[in-house]
Amino acid sequence: MNSLQGKTAIVTGASTGIGATIAKELAKEGANVVLAARRLEKLDDVKSEILKITNNNVKVIAIQADMSVQSDVNQLAEKALAELGNVDILVNNAGQMLTSTIRSGQVEEWEQMIDVNIKGVLYGIHAVLPSMLSQSSGHIINIASVSGHEVTKTSTVYSATKYAVRAISMGLEKELARTGVRITNISPGMVDTDLNRNSAWNDRKMLEATDIAKAVVYAVTQPDYVNVNEITVRPVSSDSARVLRFYK
Ligand SMILES: NC(=O)c1ccc[n+]([C@@H]2O[C@H](COP(=O)([O-])OP(=O)(O)OC[C@H]3O[C@@H](n4cnc5c(N)ncnc54)[C@H](OP(=O)(O)O)[C@@H]3O)[C@@H](O)[C@H]2O)c1
Repeated sequence: MNSLQGKTAIVTGASTGIGATIAKELAKEGANVVLAARRLEKLDDVKSEILKITNNNVKVIAIQADMSVQSDVNQLAEKALAELGNVDILVNNAGQMLTSTIRSGQVEEWEQMIDVNIKGVLYGIHAVLPSMLSQSSGHIINIASVSGHEVTKTSTVYSATKYAVRAISMGLEKELARTGVRITNISPGMVDTDLNRNSAWNDRKMLEATDIAKAVVYAVTQPDYVNVNEITVRPVSSDSARVLRFYK
């Protein structure tokens, strides 16, 4: 297992849920972490928690950034590089799941999802890739979803954004071959976070955010020659038929 000691990870959407937990788990492995999201007060809470659980042994920076605004994302990468010297890991986790049926006609919500879930991922990669290429190493983790593998009648637009994230991961993996920069796409099933607090899910236990954070740690601690391209994590007993029944 490769150590994360002295490495720097940017985690987007680190104010709550999966992102906050990924940041904590990476810090526990010794990484310095840059926390990004729109709600600075929540990021500050996560920062305090990380400093406490690591006995102040890692550096933590909280940066307010809207991932759908390219200038914010560029500044995020610039500040991370200026304050910590290098960016070794980017976890593109910020995302939203809003009204996704076409018949709802919620165009603003579709645009919001497209802006954060797709454009935000591209902006993040664009902002860190030059420095990763110049150091011939780096790791980009994209948090997609099982909704990027299958579509239900209520998930059309959200699924479209997550299919896009997977396509970006797949294309980038080919583009980055032999550069030393690795790419991992992680597709979680239903995780117990604010994102799906209102979902009617009662037939089995959801995943915990730590289940996804552990998948991230697994991917980024592999030896340098190992590129973990795709991880899917579902709650036990998940099969398409049951998922489809649930959405009907
Ligand atoms: N929970 C699930 O079942 C599940 C399953 C599959 C995939 N996922 C994916 O996992 C990721 C994290 O979701 P979660 O479940 O942890 O939900 P969550 O608790 O709602 O977290 C979403 C995070 O994204 C941030 N965010 C949203 N819009 C943003 C923007 N414009 N700019 C910057 N940050 C933004 C939020 O922070 P601010 O509001 O402070 O900006 C928050 O930190 C998402 O990409 C989601 O699609 C979740």
